[in-house]
Amino acid sequence: AGARPLQFPIPANVYAETVVSVKHYTDRLFSFRITRPQSLRFRSGEFVMIGLPNAEKPVFRAYSVASPAWDEELEFFSIKVPDGPLTSELQKIQVGDTVIMRQKSTGTLVVDALTPAKRLFMISTGTGIAPFASLLRDPDTYEKFDQLILTHTCRDNAELTYGQELVAALESDPLIGELTAGRVTLYNSTTREESACMGRITALIGSGKFYADLGIEKLNPETDRIMICGSMHMLKDVKELAESLGFQEGSLSHPATFVVERAFVG
Ligand code: A2P
Repeated sequence: AGARPLQFPIPANVYAETVVSVKHYTDRLFSFRITRPQSLRFRSGEFVMIGLPNAEKPVFRAYSVASPAWDEELEFFSIKVPDGPLTSELQKIQVGDTVIMRQKSTGTLVVDALTPAKRLFMISTGTGIAPFASLLRDPDTYEKFDQLILTHTCRDNAELTYGQELVAALESDPLIGELTAGRVTLYNSTTREESACMGRITALIGSGKFYADLGIEKLNPETDRIMICGSMHMLKDVKELAESLGFQEGSLSHPATFVVERAFVG
């Protein structure tokens, strides 16, 4: 309750977009959708800089676009940090509010930074699932890879809901449902609350439990590609694991067998 925050003039060279929907998952996580600027072009998996028009010099933070490149709205999946310069305010947005966005998108979690392969493993923790929510809804991803394996590890069960709903909705999607049927596997684990599968993804892959649970062949750079998105420590550990298995980091100029990107924090 109370007065809406002061609205400052929109800075030059940024898009001002309208909040279309907001969904709160836990006291730490929420997602929202905004209108899409007509002139914005981006690749599925990329991030943009977003902020609020609540100061003369607004704070911008990097957010992976969670919606695919063909979608007429933009979706984001965000953490709420009580004293975070942006998220302490962003978590209060409501339908009809304005979100501002810089006009350029960029990022390394794009299919063009990987060479084609049979299986694509998307390894995520927390809000690191966002770029994969985009890629899993993009037909290009299915053109380049036969099987998509998404792992999502969170502290507790409630934090897994966003990804579970995303994957459940894929097969009934009128645009890409047919394309995705039988090709997407979701692997969940929790680390701080009891669930069917517990542990960090690094430990689950390291012990072999991950392969046994899914009944799949071990990660192999001959047949597989890996995309990694999570906290800084998570990236470091999963990247080391990938390199120990013979995977090599790729980029748009030199596509290879894995790519990494830090999930938004704070
Ligand atoms: P843990 O509970 O053991 O820290 P967060 O919300 O803090 O970003 O964490 C999301 C998930 O990522 C948690 O389940 C957390 O496990 C896990 N995690 C944190 N650090 C690492 C890491 N270095 N390697 C793999 N998983 C990690």
